[in-house]
Amino acid sequence: MRAITIPEFGDESVLTLAEVPDPPVAEGEVLVDVAAAGVNRADLMQRQGFYPPPKGASELPGLEVSGRIAEVGDGVTGWSIGDEVCAVLAGGGYAERVAVPAGQLLPIPSGVSLVEAAGLPEVACTVWSNIVMTARFTGGDTVLLHGGSSGIGTMAIQVVKALGGRVAVTAGSAEKLERCRQLGADILINYREQDFVEEIKAATDGRGADIILDVIGAKYLSRNVSALASDGRLVIIGLQGGREGELNIGELLAKRGSVIATSLRGRDLADKARIVSQVRERLWPLIASGAVRPVIDQTLPLADAAEAHRILNASQHIGKVLLTV
Ligand SMILES: NC(=O)c1ccc[n+]([C@@H]2O[C@H](COP(=O)([O-])OP(=O)(O)OC[C@H]3O[C@@H](n4cnc5c(N)ncnc54)[C@H](OP(=O)(O)O)[C@@H]3O)[C@@H](O)[C@H]2O)c1
Repeated sequence: MRAITIPEFGDESVLTLAEVPDPPVAEGEVLVDVAAAGVNRADLMQRQGFYPPPKGASELPGLEVSGRIAEVGDGVTGWSIGDEVCAVLAGGGYAERVAVPAGQLLPIPSGVSLVEAAGLPEVACTVWSNIVMTARFTGGDTVLLHGGSSGIGTMAIQVVKALGGRVAVTAGSAEKLERCRQLGADILINYREQDFVEEIKAATDGRGADIILDVIGAKYLSRNVSALASDGRLVIIGLQGGREGELNIGELLAKRGSVIATSLRGRDLADKARIVSQVRERLWPLIASGAVRPVIDQTLPLADAAEAHRILNASQHIGKVLLTV
């Protein structure tokens, strides 16, 4: 099959379209003929050598795909050859075929095209697992999302609004903030011009955010703790602003706050299957009803993976960038 490989770590130009062997299909897995693959910021880190695949995972980049089942491995029930699916992966998505543990498969939600569905699994599972399962969202919570116009942010805005929460977002331009507003965001903060701690406090009568979904890490750690409400939960899922920061435990203690950091990719199969099953049961109906929609910035051919990485790196996009196979 053809796939995008990373023969050496480096800038976008290292991404190489090459012939590679089809992936073996293990017990409990299915083989998917890929229609499209989602591009995630984590793929850029993998390409640079900063985010190695977990043990046993494909060395090829790509954390989510959509496509059709071409082969069903031993022990798999409930899925058949020809089924249209999308899936969250530990790797291997930038390819014509990928082997997927059955617990990581999702049907295509109604009203979403096969190609668009490639942009759903990673953001849906990340947003649901962190905001609902880990941070125990309850309706009425105010949720601050850093990077509101990102793939993760555009999904998170819609999910929190659909569940009855109030959403604050940060973004780096008026255009991106306007798109976040159209998706449902209530509190818009331009992180280049405004202090998000002051803004979130002003918008919540001084209380702060009940949940913060953070993609910046060290650079925002201290201000995120200051922006938390009492009993607030800060969930860190990205390290774009560094991995080592200083935590004011006194301030956290006074608020009874929590600081949590998680990664979807490294979770074991049972854990991923548990998340996928909740996403299917509770988030997929929100998509089918139209309350939550995929936000696709653009779609490029698989051979243009390098260009897709350039777009993400320059943050020129709003929502997801996809590669079609
Ligand atoms: N831990 C996990 O399981 C997991 C899973 C999926 C994703 N992630 C992480 O989630 C993040 C988003 O992923 P993605 O694929 O959706 O990437 P993406 O679309 O490229 O989004 C990156 C976002 O970061 C924002 N950003 C950059 N600097 C910022 C700052 N100083 N303040 C606020 N926002 C800032 C950008 O906003 P502007 O464009 O407005 O500058 C952009 O919206 C990445 O860090 C990724 O690694 C983690």
